[in-house]
Amino acid sequence: MIDFMLNGRPCRSEATPETSVLELLRDTLGATGTKEGCASGDCGACTVAIGEPGPNGELRYHSANACITPAHQLNGRYLVTVEGLAQGEKLHPAQAAMVACHGSQCGFCTPGIVMSLFTLHEQQRHTPAPLTPQRLEAALGGNLCRCTGYRPIRDAALSMNQHPENRPLWLDAAAETQPAEPKNEAKAADNDAAFLQPTTLAALTDCLKRHPKARLVAGATDLWLESTQRLARFEHVIDVTRVAELNDIDDATLADGRSGWWIGAAVTYSRLEPLLEAHYDAFAHLLHRLGSQQVRNRGTLGGNVANASPIGDTPPVLLALGSRLRLVGPEGERELPLDDFFLDYKRTALREGEAIRAIFLPHPEAGQTLKVWKLSKRREDDISAVLGAFAYRLENGVMRDVRLAFGGMAAIPKRAANAEAALEGKAPDLAAFQAAREALSNDFQPMSDVRGSAHYRRLSAANLLERLRLSIAQADTDSPREVMLHAYAH
Ligand SMILES: Cc1cc2nc3c(=O)[nH]c(=O)nc-3n(C[C@H](O)[C@H](O)[C@H](O)COP(=O)(O)OP(=O)(O)OC[C@H]3O[C@@H](n4cnc5c(N)ncnc54)[C@H](O)[C@@H]3O)c2cc1C
Ligand code: FES
Ligand code: FES
Repeated sequence: MIDFMLNGRPCRSEATPETSVLELLRDTLGATGTKEGCASGDCGACTVAIGEPGPNGELRYHSANACITPAHQLNGRYLVTVEGLAQGEKLHPAQAAMVACHGSQCGFCTPGIVMSLFTLHEQQRHTPAPLTPQRLEAALGGNLCRCTGYRPIRDAALSMNQHPENRPLWLDAAAETQPAEPKNEAKAADNDAAFLQPTTLAALTDCLKRHPKARLVAGATDLWLESTQRLARFEHVIDVTRVAELNDIDDATLADGRSGWWIGAAVTYSRLEPLLEAHYDAFAHLLHRLGSQQVRNRGTLGGNVANASPIGDTPPVLLALGSRLRLVGPEGERELPLDDFFLDYKRTALREGEAIRAIFLPHPEAGQTLKVWKLSKRREDDISAVLGAFAYRLENGVMRDVRLAFGGMAAIPKRAANAEAALEGKAPDLAAFQAAREALSNDFQPMSDVRGSAHYRRLSAANLLERLRLSIAQADTDSPREVMLHAYAH
């Protein structure tokens, strides 16, 4: 049984473990305002807002793709759909602005776009800040419209605040109105429950012991595609998103003396963003290009690592930074370097019944540079064809601690050991980088697929190394043009 608030009213419903929020809304509750376009998180037609209590008990809403959000994750949450916004004839500012700016033609994408604008509007109320082009693009980057064109929609976003503030009263009152009862621990303890929602590490371990073959789910932005695209059925699902310890970000010092943060596996990209913006520019920039706002609101670092996709975005960065993993399972906890985690295509060192508890992100070292470049067909909401993440220090004119990791070049996210050796201890000059580019052919035999041919991948990886060389040379000179001319002269 799932208990939640739907547009300000308590709602209780049954659902199978693999039911999505979209199926629950449309098929069970008859709320058909939320549309299904792709059922894979790509188009945004199914966007809804999910509210959770913020730091001061107030409700904070985030946008989510209902098609790939497990219905059981609504338990104890506050769901807002497009049907909930207008109060009789009074439109919500997001709706009024869309009407005034002619932001809709066939209307299929419109409920999703209105819900993305609604969450943007709510966020602006909590953290008023200028609506920069970046913020606007982030808010709408996960919504496709094939007939209106984006200018009127962008105009609607920019003019929302000029419309009367007609917000449903229950949006604020909801924080005092608890959904009937989440009872996650009771569910976790219930052997027969198919969707287990532990809230502590101890309860998670217990669930893992009882159901070592259960599928773990965090943001579901990968896992749920198995249900919507391949019609998979799950006997038992263990939801890690409510486990308190998996949501922590802790400062720590490792036995080898390195300091950093243990980032709980269930920390979402949206939560991680401020930390990366403060400490790792290049990683933060990558995050802005990972999926859409809806995906970043729910997708987790732990899910990205555990999913072990060769084109997952964060593993190459974490490999370049020398990250470690803390795993938890029936035998207790163990740690291992991320270097030892990826074994083969989608095969990892996780044992049956084990979960990732946390990912160690080292503090930036003095003098260390991190560069991350993602190549994809579209800038917004697209998976990498090739991704290069490069870390190094310059010491007395030579490169030290060189770690070069790539995505899209092998069956797993992988470091380029031969190219690293070609650069380690060398000045970052043309000869060293020429050797490193040649060494890449010993590191990788990439494959051809829809995202790029093997030839494209080989060439791109080599070009990313050349870009690295140019970026080092540019940092050394006032004239980037001179560096380019010098490069072309060779
Ligand atoms: C539209 C769209 C765009 C996307 N764009 C990108 C992109 O640009 N770059 C990119 O890298 N990815 C992208 N993804 C993929 C996905 O969003 C990420 O891989 C995300 O980080 C997965 O995290 P999650 O929490 O949703 O994982 P889930 O889907 O919940 O889980 C993924 C896998 O990890 C396992 N798992 C989850 N948590 C744990 C844990 N704590 N311990 C052990 N196993 C666990 C699950 O069992 C499952 O096998 C995209 C997905 C969609 C739908
Ligand atoms: S239906 Fe396309 S994102 Fe959900
Ligand atoms: S109005 Fe038709 S898809 Fe956007």
